Amino acid sequence: MKVLVLGSGGREHALVWKLRQSARIAKLYCAPGNGGIAEDAECLPVDLKNLDSMVALGMQVQPDLTVVGPELPLTLGVVDEFTRRGWPVFGPTKAAAQLEASKSFAKEFLQRHRIPTAAYAICDSMEEVREALALFHAPVVVKADGLAAGKGVVIAASKEEAASVAAEMFSGKMVGEAGTRVVLEECLKGDELSFLVLSDGERVAPLVAAQDHKRVGDGDTGPNTGGMGAYSTVDIVDDKMRDWLVNHIAKPVVEGMKAEGAEYKGVLYCGLMMTARGPMVLEFNCRFGDPETQPILMRLESDLVDALEASIAGRVSEGDFKWSGDAAVCVVIASGGYPGTYEVGKNIVGLDAAAAIEGVKVFHAGTSNRDGEFYTAGGRVLGVSARAAELETAVQQAYRACEKIHFEGAHYRRDIAGRAMKKS
Ligand code: AMP
Ligand code: GLY
Repeated sequence: MKVLVLGSGGREHALVWKLRQSARIAKLYCAPGNGGIAEDAECLPVDLKNLDSMVALGMQVQPDLTVVGPELPLTLGVVDEFTRRGWPVFGPTKAAAQLEASKSFAKEFLQRHRIPTAAYAICDSMEEVREALALFHAPVVVKADGLAAGKGVVIAASKEEAASVAAEMFSGKMVGEAGTRVVLEECLKGDELSFLVLSDGERVAPLVAAQDHKRVGDGDTGPNTGGMGAYSTVDIVDDKMRDWLVNHIAKPVVEGMKAEGAEYKGVLYCGLMMTARGPMVLEFNCRFGDPETQPILMRLESDLVDALEASIAGRVSEGDFKWSGDAAVCVVIASGGYPGTYEVGKNIVGLDAAAAIEGVKVFHAGTSNRDGEFYTAGGRVLGVSARAAELETAVQQAYRACEKIHFEGAHYRRDIAGRAMKKS
């Protein structure tokens, strides 16, 4: 069969790498892809902000399966459009992708279905913000309602700061259109967990859980990023907790969406805070996480094509995935200046030496390839990943690989999975 992956990041490289292991695939495309993905799939140009461009690509490829990486094409309705044309596609429809595209929709949905989440207020003006703030205690979390590529959430230390962040969001200068509505939230404390499930609109099958590292600096300091690293192990959640999360969060979401006429198929990413009051939903994503997908797929032993098709066909069951008991980790190497402004076009060296280390796979996120040489082409450049029986070994191997890789301005966190190792 012919399979098309849409996207260009580390998550898409991991998807392509895993899909390539399936004996069922005769031809694998990725659009637009990146320098590293081009070694594993045929890369084709596309504009993921433009539905017509994606449809034109579909006509050219005639895919038997399309896997959508990022949220934007989903929120534009690529699944609705491809399905209408008879091209099987994995992911939620435009209506179901609202769970990620609108934080106010997600919060009201959670409240309607009594799924645990932080107390909140939805505000359309500064007057509403000032009124609502009277009911909050500092710190207050201020969120732009729409998609803001990870830049739409600020944890304000005081109510004054919360008001000024909200004003900046409303002005359009901070996150554009995404900030015309603002959600204020109670600030939750605890460990964050990325809990992803596969859904066919009715049933869910959990993936192994992972933990992301959102802040740019060691010890969770500095600004938020798209994610600087992630890990997954057998004991990140025990069986009892996994069943609780399925029964009290993932299933009620999928059943609620169906009851409301927006059946949710695809991967449902539940971003959770494990608080003293129990797990609470911080956000939903309507797609695989990046970088969580890198360690998660390194632990997947069964065929990914079969699982994705089960979601489309409405026959998901718990046994769709077979997981390795090994641990896996991904350390993101980013461009100098990221998550602020950064330069691209820096020559990357040491990739072969890194890949030669046992258990290591280097996923490319923002790279280009010119005449056999790799260059930086984005903020997050590489996801240096490793799998091993013990988390400590996986982490050691990933960092040994990181040390082999060089480009001007490169930086990465030194403490990925550090908290898990301290606990054990
Ligand atoms: P979101 O895009 O909603 O996941 O927010 C990005 C990050 O902001 C999350 O991963 C958390 O680290 C943080 N965050 C979001 N909402 C809250 C909250 N209510 N309390 C504490 N931290 C939050
Ligand atoms: N790693 C967070 C995300 O994929 O949104």
